[in-house]
Amino acid sequence: MPKATGGNEPLPEGLLWLLLTGEIPNKAQVTDLTRELASRSTLPAHVKDILRAVPRTMHPMTQLVTAVCALQTESKFARLYHEGSINKNNYWESTLDDSLDLIARLPEVASIIYRNSFKGGVHVEHDLRTAPDLSSGFCQMLGYSDPTFHELMRLYLTIHTDHEGGNVSAHATHLVGSALSDPYLAYAAGMTGLAGPLHGLANQEVLRWILKFREQFGDTHPTRDQLEAACWATLKKGSVIPGYGHAVLRKTDPRYTCQREFALKHMPEDPLVRLVSDLYAVVPNVLTQHGKTKNPYPNVDAHSGVLLQHYGLKEQDFYTVLFGVSRSIGVLSSLVVDRVLALPIERPKSVTSTWIKKHFGDPPRQTAVASEE
Ligand code: MLT
Repeated sequence: MPKATGGNEPLPEGLLWLLLTGEIPNKAQVTDLTRELASRSTLPAHVKDILRAVPRTMHPMTQLVTAVCALQTESKFARLYHEGSINKNNYWESTLDDSLDLIARLPEVASIIYRNSFKGGVHVEHDLRTAPDLSSGFCQMLGYSDPTFHELMRLYLTIHTDHEGGNVSAHATHLVGSALSDPYLAYAAGMTGLAGPLHGLANQEVLRWILKFREQFGDTHPTRDQLEAACWATLKKGSVIPGYGHAVLRKTDPRYTCQREFALKHMPEDPLVRLVSDLYAVVPNVLTQHGKTKNPYPNVDAHSGVLLQHYGLKEQDFYTVLFGVSRSIGVLSSLVVDRVLALPIERPKSVTSTWIKKHFGDPPRQTAVASEE
């Protein structure tokens, strides 16, 4: 996959090309796509006004969804559909147009949310049209000029795009899009799902757990025995070890592995990185002995927070927005493919309570009592 000049990490624009065409692009194609996105990146004034007006305490993910719904005024698909001027064989064209516009505008949306929420509303003016690539322009808008952080952003935005369509954000985008809602509305639905603690918000939870460890051990590096004991203590009080396990993966998440490689290359001595690495040596064994998980290995969320912390992006509430910027690439390219294939509306079947009783028996007593209260 093409990389930035002098860089080693893939450009997320290249992944967008791959997801839309099924082919790995060359450097010139990725450069063209970067320019194309930059030319679409201007944000309408009303979106900035709305973001300025929301309470500073509104969760950044709620702000993201609000901004994306406000951006829906720009939807070409919705306008053409309303005018009755598109043939259903061509739905995919304005879906593609909207998707590229939205992907191109999200870095500025996310930066405004970040600077409003955490930097006193002081913004860093940066035009994506002058940036060498989307990730580096995004970092500048966020207020980060370290070139290694730009490399991390290229990796981060590439690996969080998606890995298959069954996760909540991808499925929610597909579901809402199947009603022919435009890409802005469909992606906003995906983001309300990504905001859940069992989905995208998990990266926040992992970091909180790791920082608690740090508080417990201070500057001394915990021994293997101490780490094992701390993991057991978490499990015994009925909590999960955040960042471990996955709904479908049954081995270490490759997205964890590439973040680990980045960390070992750029910051092997960072105390939090060492802690994440030491936990990797201990947690899978503990979880296997505990016997309650099908996958005792780390997932993508187990590493991302400590990398962002290293470069000074410490505001954990913002992490899921970064995830969402990346995920737009995965879920919106899938939506374009849905429209190319003219997939029908998704309509799960309903069942009756008699059917449920027949297949699963009576509800557990506890549930019945709770619902009577
Ligand atoms: C994701 O990338 O969405 C997560 O790995 C969650 C999932 O796949 O279910």
